[in-house]
Amino acid sequence: MVDKKFVVTPWEVTGEVDYERLIRDFGTQPIAGPLAKRLEEILGDSAYIVRRQVFFSHRDLNLVFEDYNKGKGFFLYTGRGPSGPMHIGHILSFYFTKWLQDKFHANVYIQMTDDEKFLEEKRSLTYEETQKWAQDNILEVAAVGFDPDKTFIFQDTELVGHAYPLILKIARRVNYSTAKSVFGFTGETNIGMSFYPAIQIIPSLFEKKRCLIPSGIDQDPYWRIQRDIAEPLGYHKAAAIHSKFLPPLTGIQDKMSSSKPETAIYLNDDDKTVRNKIYRHAFSGGQASVEEHRKLGGNPDIDVPFQWLYMFFEPNDKRIEEIRSEYKSGQMLTGDLKDLLVEKVTKFLGEHRERREKAKAQVHLFKKDGALAREMWKRDFSKS
Ligand code: TRP
Repeated sequence: MVDKKFVVTPWEVTGEVDYERLIRDFGTQPIAGPLAKRLEEILGDSAYIVRRQVFFSHRDLNLVFEDYNKGKGFFLYTGRGPSGPMHIGHILSFYFTKWLQDKFHANVYIQMTDDEKFLEEKRSLTYEETQKWAQDNILEVAAVGFDPDKTFIFQDTELVGHAYPLILKIARRVNYSTAKSVFGFTGETNIGMSFYPAIQIIPSLFEKKRCLIPSGIDQDPYWRIQRDIAEPLGYHKAAAIHSKFLPPLTGIQDKMSSSKPETAIYLNDDDKTVRNKIYRHAFSGGQASVEEHRKLGGNPDIDVPFQWLYMFFEPNDKRIEEIRSEYKSGQMLTGDLKDLLVEKVTKFLGEHRERREKAKAQVHLFKKDGALAREMWKRDFSKS
């Protein structure tokens, strides 16, 4: 989806995203009404991400609930392109996936797309770099606290040999003009990229149950193709639940980017860096001077510290509404709001880092090489 004001594709997300427009253009459904209520009930203390529309769009979530109610169950699939160090925006979707796993007790498959990040030429990563980042990112994901008995992290370059027969069955069903129109491939695109969609689709076929994919809506083009080919191959169409993007620290117009480290907070930023980034670089909806701010108040809608608190860091509904109204009235200053965020983010990162230390000894419980992954779906595998 490319608009004058924003771009949302699997390779690029920039500008002020119009989420309602994406629902229309991508042909997905808003998470609203009884379906939203149902999800809130199940999520319990983490339901605020539904109430606040962080999970805002879906495909077939109603069918997932049906399968769940009937005791058929379903499985979760998500992934990460290991192109560099992970920032808070990247890790949030893994925390969301963990919350879903906690409540539904579902298997989670996590794909590390080292192949994809090597093929994306604009990134100019060497193969060795993609391998290094895959190891680094796997540890971050392992730190999130998934159930080790129900979670399978795997790296594409290790998986594909074992999954190749099924990958071929997918690839033969996707023609070039579909891939070209869905992904915008051109004559300059390398041929690896045009094959890659088959690889990103494969984990959605790991079990003969419905697959629910939590992801940013930028990944939806893959699921659209998956939904065309899954049933003829004897599998379920993938269901999806889409989350909004955490805005860049420097403002919704900006783009989180590793070439501009102030736009994001990385999981390995130390406390001092976190404070500096938030106090110096976080885009504020406040007024230019304290006097003016007291008089006119701030604008929480464009204020990034407020948005970060709203989307993730302040789960308490009463508290977030207090903050909103105090900020709007000018009673709360930009500095106060930033203090709140600094405290929340440093606490979150401190806890994440502690879990990461512990996870070092546990990575092997999550990380499956291709052979083990194949064991997981061997029975289904031969039938397709
Ligand atoms: N393509 C995604 C990225 O660039 C990684 C990914 C693979 C993914 N499979 C996924 C993301 C499933 C969400 C859900 O980061």
